[in-house]
Amino acid sequence: MSKNLGELAGRKGVNQTLFEELGIAARPAGSPSVEKMERLADEFVMGKANVYGAASFYDFLKPGNKGKKVYVCNGSSCMTAGTQSSLKEKLLNHFDANEIGEMCCLGRCHENSSFHIDGKNYSGNAIDEIISIKKDNSVVSDKYNVSLYGTAVLTAAFPGIKEYYSILAGALKKTTDELLQELKVSGLRGRGGAGFPIAIKLEGCKKEISTQKFIVCNADEGDPGAYSDRYLLEQQPHRVLLGMMIAGYISGADMGVVYIRAEYPEAITITQKAIDELHQQKLLGENILGSGFDFNFKVIGAQGAYICGEETALLSSIEGQRPEVRVRPPYPVQKGLFNKPTVVNNVETLACIPYVIKNSGQKFANIGIGKSTGTKLISLDGYFNKPGIYEVDMGTPLSVVVNELGGGFRSSIKALHIGGPLGGLVPVEKINDLAIDFESFSKNGFLLGHASVVCIPENFPIIKYLEHLFEFTAHESCGKCFPCRLGSTRGAEMLKKAQESDYKIDRKLFDDLVETLEIGSLCALGGGLPLPVKNALQYFDKELSVYFKRS
Ligand SMILES: Cc1cc2nc3c(=O)[nH]c(=O)nc-3n(C[C@H](O)[C@H](O)[C@H](O)COP(=O)(O)O)c2cc1C
Ligand code: SF4
Repeated sequence: MSKNLGELAGRKGVNQTLFEELGIAARPAGSPSVEKMERLADEFVMGKANVYGAASFYDFLKPGNKGKKVYVCNGSSCMTAGTQSSLKEKLLNHFDANEIGEMCCLGRCHENSSFHIDGKNYSGNAIDEIISIKKDNSVVSDKYNVSLYGTAVLTAAFPGIKEYYSILAGALKKTTDELLQELKVSGLRGRGGAGFPIAIKLEGCKKEISTQKFIVCNADEGDPGAYSDRYLLEQQPHRVLLGMMIAGYISGADMGVVYIRAEYPEAITITQKAIDELHQQKLLGENILGSGFDFNFKVIGAQGAYICGEETALLSSIEGQRPEVRVRPPYPVQKGLFNKPTVVNNVETLACIPYVIKNSGQKFANIGIGKSTGTKLISLDGYFNKPGIYEVDMGTPLSVVVNELGGGFRSSIKALHIGGPLGGLVPVEKINDLAIDFESFSKNGFLLGHASVVCIPENFPIIKYLEHLFEFTAHESCGKCFPCRLGSTRGAEMLKKAQESDYKIDRKLFDDLVETLEIGSLCALGGGLPLPVKNALQYFDKELSVYFKRS
């Protein structure tokens, strides 16, 4: 069924998608009307149920979104900092309660407090300027440290379009096999979480025979605590765009789609502006630099759904289908967007490509350690004395990141949640055992993931944090498989009840639930939740034991 829908959705191409039409239809009231959805269903030859099913999935298209004028961030960093309820109270002096919604997460984790009004994000402190913000939607600056420890692959100063795109001119003179070989030698692995080698994906797509192929940049950066993709899109957009173009040249794709989360409105505008600059410089379109290579971009703003960061859900989202995770195989490189061969990569992965092509795969491979080559961007939250984005060589000790780059903690911290909601919960006593590389983390029972760091203060109950993770999963579950759909809600209920009454959680039942999630979930949302839960049960057993009974 969804295979046919994928074909149908592609008839109008990527420049006019049902997904975007639904977003446009939602603008006046915050949610598309039933009449409009029915008209869109007819226009796109989709079933009415399919269109309604898609629209009702997203936070920003749901009827509950109607009438919202301001949103407070409810991501993990803002939650552990406990800043948002007082922010909400202050907002109540300027808005009705039903005009205030929630967003997760605005990527201002360096401030541990944030809100969104009318397409712009503000720091929590900007509440003091709320009257002028309401009046003229003024932009309040967003300052965070950006610093380097090792090689500048991603954070080097941008030299200007002319000089930077000489990398493209050089690449287009080489064969696609030569470029692919450089990427193989580089050992570049995906930065979006799974660490899959990019060269294998590009080679897979290159081998497919098709009249149309796509490069999709996954800029959905949904992990609360992470804002490194936001940094790249807002401050280094050409690294990402050039990476996509070279990926397109290698794999035979002529269209790049940048799918950017709605919670990053500035990133959407800046990326589009960078694409416009490329058009002005005649670096896009047909026969680029006389090479015979054609390439264009399309920016798509998402509508608020964490699961759309999962690559197959993301593709369904662009197609205007309900963004449910797809069973693989077929893999996106075989049947991806509109059933055409598609390479999906994270922002940071793509942004590394120009460095590899300019400096050689070997030079990139010389940075880092073992199979974790190159550098990694780390996002530090506002519990650090020097919060910000840090680029470090892979293999850098975590203690250096925490104590030297981050300047230590500004209050007492008991654990670091590294790598997003599905990453490991690292107790502070393990900091000295870890280094920023995929293997170091997995060997120690954690996950590097996208390398965001959310601090859990000493006085923040771990049980409350676990409840937050189960609730997050329950809210974001695509609902396709029941261990995740039901298990996340049951887990959240148990953890809540144990905090609010003298109810004790049956440990065996809880362990069964966690195991079912781990082995029975289709994707790493339900399948990944057990990792931080098991870390918590192992390292915070004493704190948690009062909430459990052993049968
Ligand atoms: C629930 C879930 C959310 C995800 N969110 C993101 C995301 O926001 N950004 C991202 O790049 N990858 C995300 N991923 C991983 C993607 O599915 C995919 O592996 C990635 O885009 C591949 O790019 P990479 O190889 O460059 O990392 C997510 C995966 C899951 C299971
Ligand atoms: S694990 Fe959850 S998000 Fe993933 S496919 Fe199953 S229901 Fe969907």
